[in-house]
Amino acid sequence: MSQCSFSPQANAGIRPIRFKQGVLSLLDQRKLPVEEVWLDYTDDQDVAEAIRSMVVRGAPAIGITAAYGAYLGACKIETDDALVFADEFDKVCENLNATRPTAVNLAWALDRMKRLVRANLNQPPINLKIGLEYEANAIADEDICINQAMGQHGEKLIPAQARILTHCNAGALATGGYGTALGVVRAAVTAGKQVMVLADETRPFLQGARLTAWELQRDQIPVTLICDNMAGYLMSLGGVDCVIVGADRVAANGDVANKIGTYSVAVLAKEHNIPFYVAAPLSTIDLSLADGSEIPIEQRDIREVTHIGDTQLAPEGVGVFNPAFDVTPARLVTAIITERGIAQGDYSSRLKELAGKGR
Ligand code: MRU
Repeated sequence: MSQCSFSPQANAGIRPIRFKQGVLSLLDQRKLPVEEVWLDYTDDQDVAEAIRSMVVRGAPAIGITAAYGAYLGACKIETDDALVFADEFDKVCENLNATRPTAVNLAWALDRMKRLVRANLNQPPINLKIGLEYEANAIADEDICINQAMGQHGEKLIPAQARILTHCNAGALATGGYGTALGVVRAAVTAGKQVMVLADETRPFLQGARLTAWELQRDQIPVTLICDNMAGYLMSLGGVDCVIVGADRVAANGDVANKIGTYSVAVLAKEHNIPFYVAAPLSTIDLSLADGSEIPIEQRDIREVTHIGDTQLAPEGVGVFNPAFDVTPARLVTAIITERGIAQGDYSSRLKELAGKGR
């Protein structure tokens, strides 16, 4: 996509990543909702640490951040030889790519940056650096257009009045702006539908309680927070009309890796005959993996489970399992919403078709 075909909307949400005059500014998502702190970065190693430590999180957002990090790393490479530059740039990208393994948007964005260099080896490094800044800005700007396009497609699946359950944060904060799952909600609001969001708190990192609740409240979209273990009861009471989540990686057969706990929500939705939708840009779809069993699942620090902030919840030395993501089998997914249309039924052929369209 070379140009954005959507104009800015009133409820587009916050843009959590800014880049101006060589400085990358990230809204520190570890501090929300209590404090709104922006951190500035000029060094790729620091950007890598920001991704690892979740200053910025969410699949598209870490892709965009990595692209800017790669540009900052490129600026430090001192050579007039394009081939030497390309090899050094690969190392910068490798370091950024090693930060978080599950969300494929990270590798997708870095591959795009590397491709630009390899396709222009006839240019001096000074020009390659200019091209890389342009490419990182394009990745960031396109992301918002893609999310708005997903919103346009996905909103058609939402009834005129809907109580929508979501897990984790797949909103403006997880992207360049607007959001994937919450982008569909925003589009439904713009279309005049009466929607409200039920936000799972999303233990252990609390993306739902801290981030989804914050951004929806900020944009005056009705939101009710629930603990993760309340979703089944709420569904049994008839209190959920549909579920929409984002994704970190979708395999070729439609299996979906997303925040830990997503699989449990999908099983509950199936039991209660509630549609379970996934909103994912094509950059999240990994056709190189046959199914979800091949998706690498990030394991995170046990302290995320044993503590909340500095408060210890569990006894010292207790065994802890802390996978950051799980895989929802395609058979539990009612539809996958992309920027080029909706996949339903036979995901293998439809995802391939959507990914191929317009390329
Ligand atoms: O660990 P996180 O907060 O990066 O996990 C984020 C998610 O699982 C999101 O649902 C996913 O990245 C989609 S964001 C549009």
